[in-house]
Amino acid sequence: MKIRKQCALVALQDVKAYLNEEGGQIAVFDATNTTRERRDLILCFVKENAYKVFFVESVCDDPEVIAENILEVKVSSPDYPEAHRERVMDDFLKRIECYKVTYQPLDPDGYDKDLSFIKVMNVGRQFLVNRIQDYIQSKIVYYLMNIHVHSHSIYLCRHGESDHNIQGRIGGDSELSSRGKQFAHALRDFIEEHKLSDLKVWTSQLRRAIQTAEELGVPYEQWKILNEIDAGVCEEMTYEMIQNTFPEEFALRDQDKYHYRYPGGESYQDLVQRLEPVIMELERQGNVLVICHQAVMRCLLAYFLDKSADDLPYLKCPLHTVLKLTPVAYGCKVEMFYLNVEAVNTHRDRPLHNYFLLTYPAPMLLRRNSYTPLSSHDQVKRPRLYSAGNRPWLPLAPAPSALEGIFPKRTLYIPFLT
Ligand code: F6P
Repeated sequence: MKIRKQCALVALQDVKAYLNEEGGQIAVFDATNTTRERRDLILCFVKENAYKVFFVESVCDDPEVIAENILEVKVSSPDYPEAHRERVMDDFLKRIECYKVTYQPLDPDGYDKDLSFIKVMNVGRQFLVNRIQDYIQSKIVYYLMNIHVHSHSIYLCRHGESDHNIQGRIGGDSELSSRGKQFAHALRDFIEEHKLSDLKVWTSQLRRAIQTAEELGVPYEQWKILNEIDAGVCEEMTYEMIQNTFPEEFALRDQDKYHYRYPGGESYQDLVQRLEPVIMELERQGNVLVICHQAVMRCLLAYFLDKSADDLPYLKCPLHTVLKLTPVAYGCKVEMFYLNVEAVNTHRDRPLHNYFLLTYPAPMLLRRNSYTPLSSHDQVKRPRLYSAGNRPWLPLAPAPSALEGIFPKRTLYIPFLT
């Protein structure tokens, strides 16, 4: 017991270092915080540090759901390295019995009535939500209410090769090339061969994606938010044309591709925000095939594979290739199917040197107007905003109201009994 408590305290110190020193904004303290004593300890820690806390309690009493969860999740958990399946089942059932002795569920009508929390019953059959304090907490609730644990796969591919792809031009709304049409046929065969009969098909509203979907002979849905990144003034240019016409823009994009926003267009960061409803709907659905575009596919892939903002814009998403993503416990299984129809390569590798910036370094590094102000990635420490009842605000310019909403309060989310 002593060691376990010590571990929890050390983990809380990690939380503190992450939030106070490493620029973290939300920490997830994942543990079996099943007693009031342990939760009170967390509440003290939260108060001392002027954080906000949101508890996530997952209650499961359906034996079938428990058995399925043990086999699906616990077998691959780090708690059971290379263990035999039946032993895991026995051991985990025993563990549940032990926890039952001390388990004190959150009590929304009494002891815990003032806490902010969500109780998830039997992996999403029912929910109880108590005292949501802010936007982030309501988003967490929204997310937890939409995810499911049933097995499903997400198939991601780009449209067939387009005329613009052949010319090396980005963006636009061109038609499929003849090889692009061949890919659409191959995709139809792929769906048939894999017996994906209950498959939903989504496309963007751009011609090359719609023409690809049309060949499949199945119903499909068009989503405008699946359209390719908007390259603004650079739309329909080749990379070479952009480099010659807008050398500074070209260099800035290479300098920080995720945050760079095309003048009059979008950044990858904008795209990630735009795609949120699609991602949420993918979480809600069963098997879905998404026919999209290079930048869009990178964003979706990065979400499921947990890739960093730095790597995202360089993920390889070749034409005429289907990626099958199957969410599993602690990750996502990826399978790649090249459909054997040749296509041009539209991938630009991360440049090793940025010659423009080597020649004109200083002003480039200072330019910030391509950044989304609401989610600046700058790591400068800001004073934390305190809510009523917490430590008073010690003003540093600018005034708190000016920062409200720009730098969200740090919040600690506590899931337990998973
Ligand atoms: O070249 C095809 C394309 O889908 C363009 O329409 C788009 O601008 C580009 O890929 C995105 O890739 P990158 O971010 O590497 O330029």
